[in-house]
Amino acid sequence: MSDTMTRPKLRLDHVTKEFAAPRTGLRTVAVSDVSLEIQAGDFVCIVGPSGCGKTTVMNMIAGLDKPSSGTIEIDGAPITGPGADRGVMFQDYALFPWLTVRDNIGFGLRNGTPGRGMAANDVEERISKHIELVRLGGAETKYPHQISGGMRQRVALARLLANGPDVLLMDEPLGALDAQTRLILQAELLRIWGETAPREERKTAVFITHDIAEAVFLSDSVVVMSSHPGRIRAVLPIDLPRPRDEHVRAHPRFAQLSEEIWELIRDEAYRAIA
Ligand SMILES: Nc1ncnc2c1ncn2[C@@H]1O[C@H](COP(=O)(O)OP(=O)(O)OP(=O)(O)O)[C@@H](O)[C@H]1O
Ligand SMILES: [Mg+2]
Repeated sequence: MSDTMTRPKLRLDHVTKEFAAPRTGLRTVAVSDVSLEIQAGDFVCIVGPSGCGKTTVMNMIAGLDKPSSGTIEIDGAPITGPGADRGVMFQDYALFPWLTVRDNIGFGLRNGTPGRGMAANDVEERISKHIELVRLGGAETKYPHQISGGMRQRVALARLLANGPDVLLMDEPLGALDAQTRLILQAELLRIWGETAPREERKTAVFITHDIAEAVFLSDSVVVMSSHPGRIRAVLPIDLPRPRDEHVRAHPRFAQLSEEIWELIRDEAYRAIA
């Protein structure tokens, strides 16, 4: 097998991250000795109690923060900063309120690295394609305050995808949505990620959530973290068939996997609210 076939898309090797408080110099170990490999085309969710270091891990993969020790690689090369190969999406929509849906989606393509060298009409075509992909046709001239939360999150998703990253990094992107919209967007997300496409055409997705059912529904594997310090407790392969729709939630294996994950985090979750 060639190197590119065996090499993971992302590799975290003994990654530790410490933060020092500015005045006291007191150190917090946010993430300790995390090693993880993520294969190209995999959808991986990270779950774990609040403060266990999920966002810290994602920020380091995004290149927004650096490990205190250990290394993180993408396609075998060390990550030294943010790059167009990775797109990030957060819980708050982070849309530009003064731009329309279309202009929000096109922002990176028109003004950033992803669109550099592309002809203007190719850029516009690409924006239109992504508006269709997230089913926002008809809303493209609206402003963020004129559309629903679910629609705003679709805009954020379209903007992320339009920039053409290989790796999607999503930190609780559906956390602010109502329960029904959330279920619908979970299924949409799988479609957009490429669930029905051949494996090699899928993006690599890393998705943080507090919602165990969401993690089971979306994932090829779930990384369970524990806190103080943040470590990986277990990595569970999710062996539910794809493509998945809402019926998979009634699958006995779905309940079994959700239960296993809850068993792993229950004690800490209770302690966190005590
Ligand atoms: N910039 C920072 N400076 C100091 N400490 C930080 C910083 N960022 C995170 N931490 C600390 O690192 C630990 C992990 O935080 P992180 O935000 O990664 O957790 P999380 O798992 O994403 O939590 P949540 O589920 O609440 O989003 C926490 O103890 C947090 O207080
Ligand atoms: Mg977080």
